[in-house]
Amino acid sequence: MAPLSRRALLGGALSALSLAAGRHSAWAEVAALRERALRKGLFYGCCASTAHFGDAPFIQALAREAGALVPEWEGKRGRIEARRGVLDFSAADRLAEFAANHGMLFRGHTLVWWNSNPAWLNAALDAASPPESLLTGYVDAVVAHFRGRVHSWDVVNEAIEPKDGRPDGLRACPWLRAFGPAYLDIAYHTARAADPGALLVYNDYGMDTADPWQAARQHAVIGLLEGFRRRGVPCDALGLQAHLKTGSNFDQEHLRRFLAEVTALGYRTLITELDVADHGGMDIAARDRAVADLAGRYLEVALDQPQTIGVVTWGLSDRYTWLDRRPWTRWVEAWRPRPLPLDSALRRKPMWHAIARAIDAAPHRPGG
Ligand code: G3I
Repeated sequence: MAPLSRRALLGGALSALSLAAGRHSAWAEVAALRERALRKGLFYGCCASTAHFGDAPFIQALAREAGALVPEWEGKRGRIEARRGVLDFSAADRLAEFAANHGMLFRGHTLVWWNSNPAWLNAALDAASPPESLLTGYVDAVVAHFRGRVHSWDVVNEAIEPKDGRPDGLRACPWLRAFGPAYLDIAYHTARAADPGALLVYNDYGMDTADPWQAARQHAVIGLLEGFRRRGVPCDALGLQAHLKTGSNFDQEHLRRFLAEVTALGYRTLITELDVADHGGMDIAARDRAVADLAGRYLEVALDQPQTIGVVTWGLSDRYTWLDRRPWTRWVEAWRPRPLPLDSALRRKPMWHAIARAIDAAPHRPGG
């Protein structure tokens, strides 16, 4: 057979390239967030509830887009131990099973929080000399129950509140009153012993902008993380909830500096509850652009740090968002929040594309 001419070779190469490019552009158009994240050695996921399991189109979108799942409510003590001493894992187990059946990582949220505790627990913590087993017994039992099934635990959630006036910036919550600042250390040591394979996370909000109240929170969190290191507390990562708001004083360099401080202390970071609230209005397209722009600028910085290992949005679709709390918003589209990647009809919004672009632009992590 006559050797191929240079022109034929070049033509063949070009058509192969254009085919690959075509495939790539087709891929780039449709590849779900979980695929894009995996390609970079990251993960993308969202929170969900078993209350959504009856919504087949939503569950289909969830299985397509999410590579990680976290219980929005059903992993909290108010749901697991509504009655003292009776641990009901039924709902959280259904979510863990869904995650396992769909190849998703499963995040545990949350073991020790000032909020969403059953009334009996708050009363017991406020009594004289509460037993430490109120803390260690629960953490041990829950982490052991999910041992080997949880990628990462939000062991303590929202322990910082500088407005409470303590020099260490800790929130004056029932846990602090009952056991002092050591409650955090005890919680992390107990969780580590119960599942050495799970990543242990400290999770909090308000660490995103240059606003003075957020700067105070960032300062207190750095102090907390430094203390963990000094005392050998087994906390592995910082979870930034990232409940953002359009029009806020978000500054990329300020966030970059904060993340660099966290990284310098040897912690990984996760974006754990990303959503973007806005101020409503009739111009839906403009609102969606503003939400997408802020989400994109935030993730551009967050994912540029190789120590950021994943992004979780606090919901997948505007159909189910905690921000939609006011009943009347259900009838006035202009007032309904639009904080998530899919709209209430499960269509990909500009925010979805902004997240996809930020993931595609992120540096590869090991394994990606
Ligand atoms: O489902 C029960 C229902 O059976 C019961 O009758 C009713 C009685 O109050 O409660 C229902 O549970 C509600 C649950 O959401 C499920 O809808 C709880 O009352 C309600 O407090 C709970 O709100 C959750 C909130 O955390 C408090 O746990 C929100 O869905 C959830 O989006 C929100 O998420 C938090 C993160 O965990 C931490 N970061 C902030 C974020 C937003 O507040």
